[in-house]
Amino acid sequence: MLHLDRTPSTAGNKLKPDKFHNHRLRSKLTVWSFLFLTVFLVFFLISPSPSATFRGQSSPAFGGPQWEKQIVKSTRPRSTSGLTVLVTGAAGFVGSHVSLALKKRGDGVLGLDNFNNYYETSLKKARKGLLEQAGVFVIDADINDKSLLDKIFNVVAFTHVIHLAAQAGVRYAMQNPNSYVDSNIAGFVNLLETCKSSDPQPAIVWASSSSVYGVNKKVPFSEKDRTDQPASLYAATKKAGEAIAHAYNHIYGLSITGLRFFTVYGPWGRPDMAYFFFTRDIIRGKRITVYEAPDGASVARDFTYIDDIVKGCLAALDTAKKSTGSGGKKKGPAEFRIFNLGNTTPVPVSRLVSLLEKILKVKAETKVLPLPRNGDVQFTHANISLAQRELGYMPTTDLETGLKKFVRWYLSYYNSASASPSRKKNF
Ligand SMILES: NC(=O)c1ccc[n+]([C@@H]2O[C@H](COP(=O)([O-])OP(=O)(O)OC[C@H]3O[C@@H](n4cnc5c(N)ncnc54)[C@H](O)[C@@H]3O)[C@@H](O)[C@H]2O)c1
Repeated sequence: MLHLDRTPSTAGNKLKPDKFHNHRLRSKLTVWSFLFLTVFLVFFLISPSPSATFRGQSSPAFGGPQWEKQIVKSTRPRSTSGLTVLVTGAAGFVGSHVSLALKKRGDGVLGLDNFNNYYETSLKKARKGLLEQAGVFVIDADINDKSLLDKIFNVVAFTHVIHLAAQAGVRYAMQNPNSYVDSNIAGFVNLLETCKSSDPQPAIVWASSSSVYGVNKKVPFSEKDRTDQPASLYAATKKAGEAIAHAYNHIYGLSITGLRFFTVYGPWGRPDMAYFFFTRDIIRGKRITVYEAPDGASVARDFTYIDDIVKGCLAALDTAKKSTGSGGKKKGPAEFRIFNLGNTTPVPVSRLVSLLEKILKVKAETKVLPLPRNGDVQFTHANISLAQRELGYMPTTDLETGLKKFVRWYLSYYNSASASPSRKKNF
């Protein structure tokens, strides 16, 4: 290449020899830099990133004797007959109530939650604070973090897992569809992979949803009804979860119980749900939107109070048969169950509003609009006879009583700036 540098300038080239030389050198450097950059970029793009299998937030470093000590302490049952339970979604609405109820009766509990910002993280942190006061250690991690799950299962032999972590809400799926796939499908598979490989395998209870009934018109919804017409991506991921659960039960001998919850409400609830934001907006004097079906029929929900749901979850854990496999190998057929957990009394949303007006002593300003086609179904109504028979499940809280408890909690939680002690009292 050197001889080229000595080539005399062509006719009409005004560059002096050393200037010309510098120019050639610069172009060569540019070419080499370009090549180097291309190779670097290609290498960077094709090499797997450390979190390639897990699109959630990177977990902070876990491990060490102190961390393991906290896990062991939190998961130690009070008596030898107690359960050792991993609760995913423990900082969530249902997860926090279930964790607390298990701990209260003497079971060992470990919580796990990724504290995502789908709704106010301060509420999730406040719930975590309550769990920690009760002696439940909550790990801030994602169910997609396989090495973390494996690490936890190496420290503790869980007898049960209650899997409540999920991307909830039907409307948000139009904004962030991948969050449903990540948590409700990929995350669930990741958790099942860890459970199936562990020895002993835990029995699994997990939250499906009444939304799997989709656009069904036959009421009340029975577990035998079709569930192949979802009206939202959320519902589709829950339905996929039921199919995935069946496959893991069939291949690996995992004992799995799916619970189809019907519109759960109560203290420490979810701010994205109508009863919650109606309360907030009525108090603030903000107009609320009430939807009605295209033919003018009312939209109704089978509202189920959180304490009834917790009883159903605990009964499902207590009656679950053991998994039959171990270390990834099936040793015999295992139990596979699905139950509706509802209240069996659907209430029109207009009635929900009038109950809130009565409890809050404030007249709501409402705007009535046709139900948009964004995932919400017109009504839900549970047939709970199977859960009654097999779990002894019997809801006891009517909507007015439950809403009073919710409103009392809401006012105390949002009116007290610093008040963690009063928050504890209201749980
Ligand atoms: N509340 C209801 O009315 C209702 C109805 C039907 C089904 N469900 C199901 O019940 C379960 C609990 O619902 P909820 O109302 O308590 O919801 P929630 O959103 O309050 O609780 C879910 C928790 O899971 C956590 N989470 C989400 N993705 C995660 C991930 N990838 N890794 C770790 N943590 C993750 C969230 O941070 C949240 O704290 C969910 O599976 C939900 O789909 C709820």
